[in-house]
Amino acid sequence: MTDHVPIITVDGPSGAGKGTICQLMANRLGFHYLDSGALYRLLVLAARRHTVDLRNVESLVVLAAHMDIYFNMNSEFESQVILEGEDISALIRGEDIGADASTIAAHIEVRAALLSRQRVFAKSPGLVADGRDMGTIVFPDADAKIFLTANPEIRAKRRHKQLMDKGKDVSLASLIEQVKERDERDMTRKSSPMVPAHDAVIIDSSHMSINGVLELGLDVAKKNGIHSQ
Ligand code: C5P
Repeated sequence: MTDHVPIITVDGPSGAGKGTICQLMANRLGFHYLDSGALYRLLVLAARRHTVDLRNVESLVVLAAHMDIYFNMNSEFESQVILEGEDISALIRGEDIGADASTIAAHIEVRAALLSRQRVFAKSPGLVADGRDMGTIVFPDADAKIFLTANPEIRAKRRHKQLMDKGKDVSLASLIEQVKERDERDMTRKSSPMVPAHDAVIIDSSHMSINGVLELGLDVAKKNGIHSQ
């Protein structure tokens, strides 16, 4: 018999705070962290670098299976993403890569090719998995499931602040449009649409602090038998 690996899934739209909450939860619990969105983003970057057309699903599938990637946690407990030996964590965060990731993520073949690359993250002592279909498709037997959401204007405002802090001047109105477009694409695609798992606890972070969401998330984990160390 293999030892049970506890898994917490956190799904929801972009900008709801999943990345921050998942990394803090993983840190508190001493668990591994899977940023599944980074895998879709990585595939876009790898395709660009290997001049693979994003409409060429067959080649994307081959690339998804073979791309040389590595995830690392730095001393500040921030997740780093390495592609072919290069730290490309910042490079894959652009809005254009996010939009392309959402386009390729609509292909069932691409999703299938990334399944096993996501499941290898389930290792002892446990995993916090962040994405859109973690609780429904990738880890349907997860111990605790959360669907973290927030209203689109608030999510776009958070993104706007992040970009302004980095010195990037983007219009808030265009970000709100982009957020809504991406939600629409993620929710209406035929393959693994973004929907809460039937057994997920829904948390709306619109008017909550990061700490408030973290404590609520840890509480959901605790109620499902997962305790902080
Ligand atoms: O979470 P992030 O914004 O990095 O994800 C980028 C895109 O990748 C999402 O808009 C979504 O279309 C896709 N994605 C997905 N399934 C996941 C994670 C991300 O379809 N589990």
